Amino acid sequence: MFLTKSEEKALAGESGEALEIAYRVLVAIGKISNAKRLIPIKWAHVSGVSYLTIGEYGLDFLKKISSTRGTKFRVFTTVNPCGMDIENWDSLDIPADYADKQLKIISYYEKLGIANSFTCVPFQSYKVPRRGTSVAWAESSAAIYANSILGLRTNRESAVSALASALTGKTVYSDLHIPRNRSPTKNIRVDLKRRNGDRLAGSVDYGVLGYFAGKNVPGVIGFQGQKFDLGMAEAKALCAAIGTTGSSGMFVLNSKERLETIDFTKKEYEEVFSELSQSGEGEAVVFGCPQMTIEELYELSRMLAGKHFLKKCFVFCSSKMYEISRTRGYAQVIEGAGATFVRDACADFTPLISALNVDSVETDSCKGAYYMHKVHGVNISLKDTKTLIEENAA
Ligand code: F3S
Repeated sequence: MFLTKSEEKALAGESGEALEIAYRVLVAIGKISNAKRLIPIKWAHVSGVSYLTIGEYGLDFLKKISSTRGTKFRVFTTVNPCGMDIENWDSLDIPADYADKQLKIISYYEKLGIANSFTCVPFQSYKVPRRGTSVAWAESSAAIYANSILGLRTNRESAVSALASALTGKTVYSDLHIPRNRSPTKNIRVDLKRRNGDRLAGSVDYGVLGYFAGKNVPGVIGFQGQKFDLGMAEAKALCAAIGTTGSSGMFVLNSKERLETIDFTKKEYEEVFSELSQSGEGEAVVFGCPQMTIEELYELSRMLAGKHFLKKCFVFCSSKMYEISRTRGYAQVIEGAGATFVRDACADFTPLISALNVDSVETDSCKGAYYMHKVHGVNISLKDTKTLIEENAA
């Protein structure tokens, strides 16, 4: 792989150990993917923030990188949600030793220079660059959204490769950065006769489709068979579910390509749904995987007006969206209905779910359903947002 003089020097350690490690990571990825060069990026989005996912090894690694003198992120860098509400963790039964480690991780990232965000929906909090711009985003749901909806170019970065890109301002020119690799490789044809007026509608339906598509198509997915008019909530659910089950980094709606085609019928829908939803009811309700957008918070507040939850309910969103929703009065309605906001945290990779001490949870997220079941061992009742409110608030 071609490296410029300054990249070679940094790789040789002349710009410090942190940059040397970062270039070693990028060069290793470049070799595996047969890349010819590195390219500049405008935005890095780093995952690996929750102590539940990175553990002691990640904590030590970040400490080492951030304490190397003069080491800073070179491009605009956002980070994924962490494992707890940073302001409110002690009232949410987060163990103090966990909180201590989580706060250390946050302080290391802050030292390196992050935008003030802990979100898996970074495209709602910050101005998105123009279409065609290369970025380096970890967090599969956001990366798939970036490629498929925003027209940005990114590979599905890992926590380490996104960190290397944040430190260098560069990524490997491979895969989805190259225009010819951004066409569908297989189609999924949606054919849901006799279901919901024959069409997918709402974020649970799109999550189920994404879960199926991710499992069956490792490359760029082409969707066809119905008119897909996705709002941000449905698109986010589709992207998150694709990222849960496979390695695809992008989809194309209304694919016209003549390719191998896999049918997604009522049968496949029901198989995925019953895999994700093991229970008819849950003892607590969780919204916000990916974290809720301002539009979803508005909808939630509208549906909850004058109602009160009959069981514990948690709403995950970034502190930025929380502040906006307070300004607009949505947060007061949601809190007035008895729900608890959990800001800046991941709905799945948090000790909060285990601390609830429940056997089952209700959610409207397919990704959340998969990970809460896997990580915390709770059974899941998967329902759309409206049904969750109708059944659990009065
Ligand atoms: Fe976001 Fe965590 Fe779900 S990072 S997409 S809330 S698993």
